[in-house]
Amino acid sequence: MLSVSSRTAVVGLLGYPVVHSFSPYMHNAAFRALGMDWVYLAFNVEPRLLPAAVSGIRALGFRGVNVTIPHKQAILPFLDEIDPLAKLIGAVNTVVVKEGKLVGYNTDASGFWRSLKEEGVDPRGKRALILGAGGAARAVAYALVKHGCNRLYIANRTYDRARELAETLKKAGETSVEPLSLEEAFLASILPEADLIINTTSVGMETVGGELPITADKLEARHIIYDLVYNPPYTKLLKMASSKGCRAISGRSMLLYQGAEAFTLWTGREAPLEVMKQVVEELLPS
Ligand SMILES: NC(=O)c1ccc[n+]([C@@H]2O[C@H](COP(=O)([O-])OP(=O)(O)OC[C@H]3O[C@@H](n4cnc5c(N)ncnc54)[C@H](OP(=O)(O)O)[C@@H]3O)[C@@H](O)[C@H]2O)c1
Repeated sequence: MLSVSSRTAVVGLLGYPVVHSFSPYMHNAAFRALGMDWVYLAFNVEPRLLPAAVSGIRALGFRGVNVTIPHKQAILPFLDEIDPLAKLIGAVNTVVVKEGKLVGYNTDASGFWRSLKEEGVDPRGKRALILGAGGAARAVAYALVKHGCNRLYIANRTYDRARELAETLKKAGETSVEPLSLEEAFLASILPEADLIINTTSVGMETVGGELPITADKLEARHIIYDLVYNPPYTKLLKMASSKGCRAISGRSMLLYQGAEAFTLWTGREAPLEVMKQVVEELLPS
C-alpha cells in the first residue's frame, strides 16, 4: 500500500496525453520497495499550459518530473539549467529540482542505448532509418551517431523538423545524416538501404492513432525493427515485422532504463531495477 503523508516527496510526469504511461507504476513500486516516502503522479498538461505547469513544479516543491510527448523540446526555455548532454540532444525528459532550480537532463539516449546493447544490436557500421524527429528521435539519433552508426536517415511527417535535427547531429559525430519526409522513407530506394528501422513517432500508441505509410511487403527479414511505443506492447509495426521474419524489438526495456536513471537523478539512490523490471513485465507481457 502506498501511503501519502504531509511529508511525502512528489515527482511526476508532464505529458499530453499521459494515460498510456507506465512510469507511475514503475516508480511507485520502486519507492515502496525501498521504503521511501515518495510518490509519482501523472499530469495531463495541454501545450498552452506547459509554462504554468513548470511554475507549479517550483511553487509546489516537487522534487522533479519526467517530461514526455509533446513537451520534451518545448520545456527547455522554462528551465534554469540544462545538462550539457541534454543541451546537445536538444530535448529534456527528466527535470530535477536542485535548491529551487530546475535542471533538465536527458535519460532517453542512455536508456535507448542500454536497451539496444541488451538486445545485442551493435549500430557500428550499420545504416539506420529513424521515423520521427521529435524529442525521443533526438535522443535515439544522438545515441546512434555517438556509437558509430554509419549512415542515418531521419524521416518525419514535418520535413523541416527532420532537416533541423540532421543539422544538429553534425555536432554530435561523423555519421552522414540525411533528412527525408515520412513518405520518402518508404519509397523503394530507402528501405533496402537500411539495416535498422526505429519508430520514434507516437503512431501506434492506443491513445494517439495515426498510420505509418508502411506495408509488410516493404520489409525484409534482415531488417531489425525497434518501436519506441511500448503500449500496446506489440504494436502494428512490430506485428508486421514479425510476420516478415524480422527481429522486432519493443520500447519496453528503454522505458525501464530511462526510468531507472531518472530515479537516481531525483533520489540519489540506485534504482531497484529488478522491482521496476518485474512491474513493467507484468503490465506489458511480451
Ligand atoms: N520506450 C520509451 O522509453 C520511450 C521513451 C521516449 C519516447 N517514447 C515514445 O516515443 C513516442 C514519441 O515521443 P516524443 O516525446 O518524441 O514525442 P514528440 O516530441 O511529440 O514527437 C512526436 C513525433 O511523432 C510524429 N507524429 C505524431 N503523430 C503522427 C502521425 N499521425 N503521423 C506521423 N507522424 C506523427 C511527430 O511528427 P511531426 O513532427 O510531424 O509532428 C514527431 O516526429 C511516444 O509514443 C512516446 O511514448 C518511448
